[in-house]
Amino acid sequence: MDEILLTENLTMTYRVGKVDVHALRGLNLSVNPGEFVSIMGPSGCGKSTLLHILGGLLQPTSGRVIIGGEDLTTLSDAERTDLRRRKIGFVFQRFNLFPTLSAEGNLKIAEHIHGKGKPSRDNRMRLEVLKLLQLENKMRHKPLELSGGEQQRVAIARAVINRPAIILADEPTGNLDSENSKIVLDMLSRLNRELGQTIVMITHNPEAAAVARRTIEMRDGTIVKDYLNASN
Ligand SMILES: Nc1ncnc2c1ncn2[C@@H]1O[C@H](COP(=O)(O)OP(=O)(O)OP(=O)(O)O)[C@@H](O)[C@H]1O
Ligand SMILES: [Mg+2]
Repeated sequence: MDEILLTENLTMTYRVGKVDVHALRGLNLSVNPGEFVSIMGPSGCGKSTLLHILGGLLQPTSGRVIIGGEDLTTLSDAERTDLRRRKIGFVFQRFNLFPTLSAEGNLKIAEHIHGKGKPSRDNRMRLEVLKLLQLENKMRHKPLELSGGEQQRVAIARAVINRPAIILADEPTGNLDSENSKIVLDMLSRLNRELGQTIVMITHNPEAAAVARRTIEMRDGTIVKDYLNASN
């Protein structure tokens, strides 16, 4: 029982007017530390719903979510927020950076929110991450002064800088051209291989999915395939 993430019989039903939308229908998933997992499946099959529940942004209708031994579904809102800050790093399709802050400012906010107060270690980590993401020279730029690919790399740096137990990424290359997608995927892959960062990434692109070691395919709120990618 050393998986970093475990769901048991997860269901999510949205109520829209008088209609129930069954977004997740009894989903069981287990991810071990150090894994890089991609999630694929048609639009509306429940991928983002799953990711939001895994990250504690959304409460499931039933079932359990266990992250690093803590059961998310039994926590209060405040405890869930705290667990999210300590253990989860999010990367979204839209980069969600603070537009008025420099890249450095965006990272500092993340570190401040995390608030661990271990400056020397944090500084080493920060340099390592910036180097890996090739952002050292861009720290004074504001988001509008960065390319889309660079903005996403800042967003990834922000997600990874506090060494979360798990990075949850929802179509991180969805807004990027193919060249920048390749760069961002390569960097996620290096974060996984070189820092042992656990990553769960939603993508529509089979080439992006193949960068991960394991692929999960969803249909109608459940997992229909779960396999290892031969080339990794
Ligand atoms: N807040 C909401 N309220 C009501 N229904 C929702 C809500 N969010 C999602 N849904 C519905 O739940 C189902 C799953 O949606 P979800 O966003 O998880 O799909 P997805 O697999 O991420 O799709 P995409 O690939 O288009 O992003 C869909 O039928 C969607 O319409
Ligand atoms: Mg989605």
